[in-house]
Amino acid sequence: MKTDKADILTLLRNSEDYVSGQQLCDRFGVTRTAVWKVINQLKEEGYQIESVSGKGYRLIEGPVDMLSESEIASRLQTEWAGRKLYYFASTGSTNTDAKRLGEEGEPHGTVVVADIQTAGKGRRGRSWQTLAGTALSFTLLLRPDFVPDKASMITLVMALSVAEAVEEITGAAAGIKWPNDIVMNRKKICGMLTEMTMTPEMDEIQYVVVGAGINVNNAAPEDFQEEVRPTATSLRIETGQQYNRAGLLNKVLLRFEENYAVFLETLDLSGLRERYQKHLLNMGAQVRVLDPAGEYTGTAEGIDMQGELIVVKDNGERTPVYAGEVSVRGLYGYV
Ligand code: BTN
Repeated sequence: MKTDKADILTLLRNSEDYVSGQQLCDRFGVTRTAVWKVINQLKEEGYQIESVSGKGYRLIEGPVDMLSESEIASRLQTEWAGRKLYYFASTGSTNTDAKRLGEEGEPHGTVVVADIQTAGKGRRGRSWQTLAGTALSFTLLLRPDFVPDKASMITLVMALSVAEAVEEITGAAAGIKWPNDIVMNRKKICGMLTEMTMTPEMDEIQYVVVGAGINVNNAAPEDFQEEVRPTATSLRIETGQQYNRAGLLNKVLLRFEENYAVFLETLDLSGLRERYQKHLLNMGAQVRVLDPAGEYTGTAEGIDMQGELIVVKDNGERTPVYAGEVSVRGLYGYV
């Protein structure tokens, strides 16, 4: 039944003209009653569907924002990313789910999306809050066949993809705070967490999960927990508009497919560096590097082909900063 709903919605979304009940029955091998039931369900969920006798059904408009398996599937235009899709109204963490699915043998490109996360994970052991109806929280499962030390670049590929998709959808500028926070007007709209699992022999990647949490429709700063409020924002707060999260997911995954293909050609960032650096807010800026081995300040010069941030320390020494352990801040605040 679920698949029928997604299939019927996809067909209605992609047809400019009416789709007859008979066409739907023939296409999906279901009865007229089954089609009618699905149409009614969709109407109850807020889709405006016109039914004209002798002509059939036409989708006039869907809800502005709606996250469901059918909504996501009907908007997906990708080749491989998200073609295997898991949607949960509520889950612990989509990264944890994707890792379980990785263990269970699910294919490259599987995507897990959730409206609510009750145990969302942030970087460096922090938690990540996801309230109902606000964020686009998803994790992409990848099965790369390159060596493990290339994997950290996947996060930068995703960061560029999110920044580009957000710009495309909002028309507003989105920056990247190295390595992978997405920022609008100097506040964070998206964080990412990439986790890698190795084969038992520890010499190859078994799978990588890359999770992103984009603050989309949070209405006001009060929607964020107190500790992140000074640095967090949402697309809605910054642009005054609400966005369809399923539509945004489609754009992010489309960009990721393109950018990942470019990355795979060389297994470094040579094909993406220019675009990444155009978005890089730390470019030429003074930064404070929070290295567990000792904090220091310097000027960021951009990234190298491996995605490391090149920092010229105040003493003139030029050093690549590896994303794994360190955090980078602006000299006077978050960016
Ligand atoms: C950070 O900036 O600290 C990273 C936040 C990553 C949050 C996303 S939301 C989807 C995915 N599932 C998780 O549990 N975490 C990531």
